[in-house]
Amino acid sequence: MCGIVCYVGRKEVKPILLEGLKRLEYRGYDSAGLAIQDGNRIELHRAVGKIAELEKEVNDVNIRGTMGIAHTRWATHGEPTEENAHPQRDQDENTFVIHNGIIENYLSLKRMMERQGITFRSETDTEILAQLIGLNFDGSLHEAVRKSLSQVEGTFGVAVIHKSTPHEIVVARRGSPLIIGVSDHGHFVGSDIAAMVTYTNKVVHLRDNEMARLTVDDFSISTAQAKPIERSLETVEWRAEEAELNGFPHFMLKEIYEQPETIKNAIRGRLEPSEGVPKLGGIEPVWEKLKECRHMVIVACGTSYYAGCVGMYIFEKLTEIDVEVELASEFRYRKLNFPRNTFVVAMSQSGETADTLAAIKEARRKGASLLGIVNVVGSSITRETDAGIYNHAGPEIGVASTKIFTSQVTILTLLAVLLGRHQKLSLTEGVEIIRALQALPNQVKKVLSQSNHIQAIAEKYYGCGNWLFLGRKYNYPLAMEGALKLKEISYIHAEGYAAGEMKHGPIALINPKMPTVAVVPKDDMYEKMISNIHEIKARKGPVIAIATQGDDKIKAMVDEMVEIPPTFDFLNPILAGVSCQLLAYYCASFLGREIDKPRNLAKSVTVE
Ligand code: AGP
Repeated sequence: MCGIVCYVGRKEVKPILLEGLKRLEYRGYDSAGLAIQDGNRIELHRAVGKIAELEKEVNDVNIRGTMGIAHTRWATHGEPTEENAHPQRDQDENTFVIHNGIIENYLSLKRMMERQGITFRSETDTEILAQLIGLNFDGSLHEAVRKSLSQVEGTFGVAVIHKSTPHEIVVARRGSPLIIGVSDHGHFVGSDIAAMVTYTNKVVHLRDNEMARLTVDDFSISTAQAKPIERSLETVEWRAEEAELNGFPHFMLKEIYEQPETIKNAIRGRLEPSEGVPKLGGIEPVWEKLKECRHMVIVACGTSYYAGCVGMYIFEKLTEIDVEVELASEFRYRKLNFPRNTFVVAMSQSGETADTLAAIKEARRKGASLLGIVNVVGSSITRETDAGIYNHAGPEIGVASTKIFTSQVTILTLLAVLLGRHQKLSLTEGVEIIRALQALPNQVKKVLSQSNHIQAIAEKYYGCGNWLFLGRKYNYPLAMEGALKLKEISYIHAEGYAAGEMKHGPIALINPKMPTVAVVPKDDMYEKMISNIHEIKARKGPVIAIATQGDDKIKAMVDEMVEIPPTFDFLNPILAGVSCQLLAYYCASFLGREIDKPRNLAKSVTVE
């Protein structure tokens, strides 16, 4: 995620901004920049790569000034380049802006300003904010920002300075956090407390659709309609290193709890609720071919592979497309004969997984068209594919993938609905699925609200050395993903299995010391899953059910039950996935494992 740090006060601002940026490094980024104001002069410095690159550049110059804004960029629109780094400025270089979030209507605003003769330098959505504010500036920076943001659709945490207003920083928030820090020598603004925790623990949280104007000695908050707001200071008791975790003990747990937001980011600006047709701008370059596609191959590794397997069932349900899913490490060695107009879809959080990258290069040689569903903008896989869809999930720091799994299944559903609506999916069906996607974030919150209950289950069973995860159809890949989560962070042996396979072997394993996680929502496999549960209970195996909330029949049959809200069958893996993530997390926690950096594992497997 992008990071913001600003200061206006009595101290030299350069070291404060650089230190703040370093404290935000954990958020993940691919470029950084700062703008420092000294009177009517603003100096801009930006660099691709690590903060150290920016530091090298600014340390060589003597930049004086006690006010400035700084940013670490996690690219969403436009490659990680110096020109796309923040701060972005207007064409006259009077207005300087740093921004977290996504401007959904940036293209229409950009075209409107181009028609007025404005020239743009970058590929970013943020530049339109700087240009718009520059156009609207008429002496009051606060009013120019307020007026400009009223024309913007999307999310922002934004900070703005202007050459003609040398003593103030104006900030605004809609959907992307901003915190004001108060010290005895000046005022701070940050995307989170980590940016300022060295200097102050007295903060004020801006809320959505609020703005603030900060000077050396004062700050004022108002609504987006310029109505003044009074808000008292809060005291944050975090040490600096805790601030990056935002109070969570591990990044993995923080990212599990980010999922309501990351699912929102996966669908944000991508739904046409009234038409029941998603909008996926990233696949426009290949749309004419893709909409005729009747054969698709998803290639991925690990958790991304399991998300792809769920996607196979979803495409089967919603489209006329034959979908195969292949482990990238196997796919690349196969004899590949693609039917005409085959699309190969690479699923990858990092966009750098060597096996997946090699697989799509082989697919290209054999004539397939390539799509990517990737989280890291500008990564190698995104450069190899013809088009793609970004997760917009922000960096995933924990080695165990959590928020990306649910984001990937959400995006695969969007793609399936889009294609299905050009095949046999009716408007009503499309509208209903889109409504179900919009309901997901709150449903995930309901699962998260059971975390204490799930922790208690983990406490009962974390000592068991072997676990079994069972599911059918959409929940079979989920069973494998649940097993992977447990394996990779707790080091407990676990297997994910198609429940129908129990009688073909695994049932021999069942014993009182072997918990089975049975994914048994009220779907068309419900009765068959109940038979599996009976078979296990008859052999005294403990069963932990993940079932539809309020299912008393299952509750009476099993030892433990985690409840998930009702939704479409093909969306159950998202809600059950969150349950499995928490179960694995708490087992690993009770075992005292190195949860964010489990042994032998890397976040991105860039070797074969
Ligand atoms: C998942 O928890 C693992 N960290 C791992 O299996 C991961 O999903 C796999 O390496 C694929 O990574 P990618 O999505 O970045 O390609």
